[in-house]
Amino acid sequence: MSFIRHALHQVWAQLTAKKPQLEQFLEEVQIRHLRGIRELHVPFSYPVSVIAGPNGCGKSTVLFACAGAYHVPGQRDYSPAVLFPNLSTPAGTHVSDDPGTPSFTYYFRDHGNKFGMVWQRGKSSWNRSFQGRKNVQQPQRELYLRTLANLTSPVEVRSILQIGRKAYEQEPISSELLSFAQRILPFRYRGLTSLQLKGKDLLFAEREQPNTSYSEFHMSAGERAILRLSKDISGLRHALILIDEIEAGLHPYTQQQVMLELQRLALRNNLQVLVTSHSPVVLESVPVDGRIFLERQQDNVVLQPA
Ligand SMILES: Nc1ncnc2c1ncn2[C@@H]1O[C@H](COP(=O)(O)OP(=O)(O)O)[C@@H](O)[C@H]1O
Ligand SMILES: [Mg+2]
Repeated sequence: MSFIRHALHQVWAQLTAKKPQLEQFLEEVQIRHLRGIRELHVPFSYPVSVIAGPNGCGKSTVLFACAGAYHVPGQRDYSPAVLFPNLSTPAGTHVSDDPGTPSFTYYFRDHGNKFGMVWQRGKSSWNRSFQGRKNVQQPQRELYLRTLANLTSPVEVRSILQIGRKAYEQEPISSELLSFAQRILPFRYRGLTSLQLKGKDLLFAEREQPNTSYSEFHMSAGERAILRLSKDISGLRHALILIDEIEAGLHPYTQQQVMLELQRLALRNNLQVLVTSHSPVVLESVPVDGRIFLERQQDNVVLQPA
């Protein structure tokens, strides 16, 4: 067995043993009447799950649905109203995406309690209700959602380039946040700096041998994706991490390394991770109970046996 396969099998066993000790775990999400899904139940059994399936089978929909599970302090971007906006035409005529009432049901394990929660779309807003217990609140958890759209869209590039022309704040990134990237990328970094302006940021990396420094626009797509991921998630504890199309820009061997390091990070920092992927390499980097296959049928999406 290759070195990396051996390391993967080792972390699989460790994470499987760790799962019952995690204080927070999203055990299942159910989606009804949304994006061509009549009813779909997706259980999560291993702390790091990979959602696979053909284009348009609902992978991103499941990922976004999970973002609505928790109350995230200081964040409203993860509410279903933001993630799943309904359409109305400029004239104000109501156009609905879906027949039936869209809803998400979540099953949580949270600090020794088990309970369910439902988000349901009403006439003008989404409403929450709880199952099985009175006086429960939506559980609170840190959450990270990376979608392809915010990886490098031209709009983002333009707005970030403005940073270089205006007064910005400069913040060094702690080396702890770099170590995830450092284990994957073949370069040695002396440091990473973030230039910030109005909620936007631009990363600069300083490298050793050759001694050089460059912005993320001069990085390869893969280097940029890994440095960003490293900076964004290395400091999170007990969080839910959601990553759409994790393999984007990555060589197959690097995909395997990223998945290995993600599982090691989940083990160290008590994380739950959910990624979508079209890559067989990513899929095979988690054990069978972490693999989720979706298949679109005429008016529904179903879960296929692994
Ligand atoms: N109202 C609807 N009825 C039927 N299908 C829909 C509806 N809204 C969206 N879809 C389908 O849902 C798909 C979006 O799913 P998505 O989760 O983005 O897929 P994936 O990430 O697996 O590629 C689109 O391909 C679209 O065909
Ligand atoms: Mg998608």
